[in-house]
Amino acid sequence: MRRTLIAGNWKMNGSFAANRSLLSEIVAGLPVSSDCDVLVCAPAPYLTQCAELLTASLVKWGAQDVSEHAQGAFTGEVAASMLVDCGCRYVIVGHSERRAYHAESNAVVARKTLRALSENLIPIVCVGETLEQRESGQTEDVVAAQLQAVLDVVDVAQITQLVVAYEPVWAIGTGKTATPQMAQDVHAFLRQQIALKDVAAAASVQILYGGSMKPENAKDLLAMVDIDGGLIGGAALKSADFLAIAAAA
Ligand code: G3P
Repeated sequence: MRRTLIAGNWKMNGSFAANRSLLSEIVAGLPVSSDCDVLVCAPAPYLTQCAELLTASLVKWGAQDVSEHAQGAFTGEVAASMLVDCGCRYVIVGHSERRAYHAESNAVVARKTLRALSENLIPIVCVGETLEQRESGQTEDVVAAQLQAVLDVVDVAQITQLVVAYEPVWAIGTGKTATPQMAQDVHAFLRQQIALKDVAAAASVQILYGGSMKPENAKDLLAMVDIDGGLIGGAALKSADFLAIAAAA
């Protein structure tokens, strides 16, 4: 049985003061025996603050990106080993905003995934189509290629260490959420793609939905058999909304 993961992607938002309030409200508001895992992915400058405020809590923390390189002359990049030093358990790779604004190809995302795995970080591998690609019937081709680039470089054991996030680009930050059935269809397709490599691994991999998940739609989305959680943007910046989504799990 897959556990549910509710992950907040803060994107480039926050301050030491605002984070302290947000994190303390989340920690205080989480039921002790929650049926789901809760994670916040903060900007890199705040990861040690997450470690300070979350270590004694049930809330995990992670990063939003990682270098494909181990260490060295890569100005501005952050190594997987450095994320481990900050106590991270997870790292988002291949978010559509990085694919779009930083020309991250499927091959780069695959290499970042391997780098994260090499440091025992759990990569949250993001896939998703644009509105144009959906409207032209390319959704499965696009997400299959994005996922396959990763499946081609990992072994079966490593697949079980992955989390996949389906984030239709047209639903990110727009308020236009995919319907539960639309999301379920793509999640089931992604799980079938993984099953082509290993059926047991496919059954164990958490596949999150991201794209305007809110308290009002979370329950219906999370009720779908192949939706194992959410990757939350805007709603993760408000403790009441983030906790309401976790409670819907
Ligand atoms: O990574 C999660 C993010 O892309 C979703 O953003 O604001 O639509 O929940 P949002």
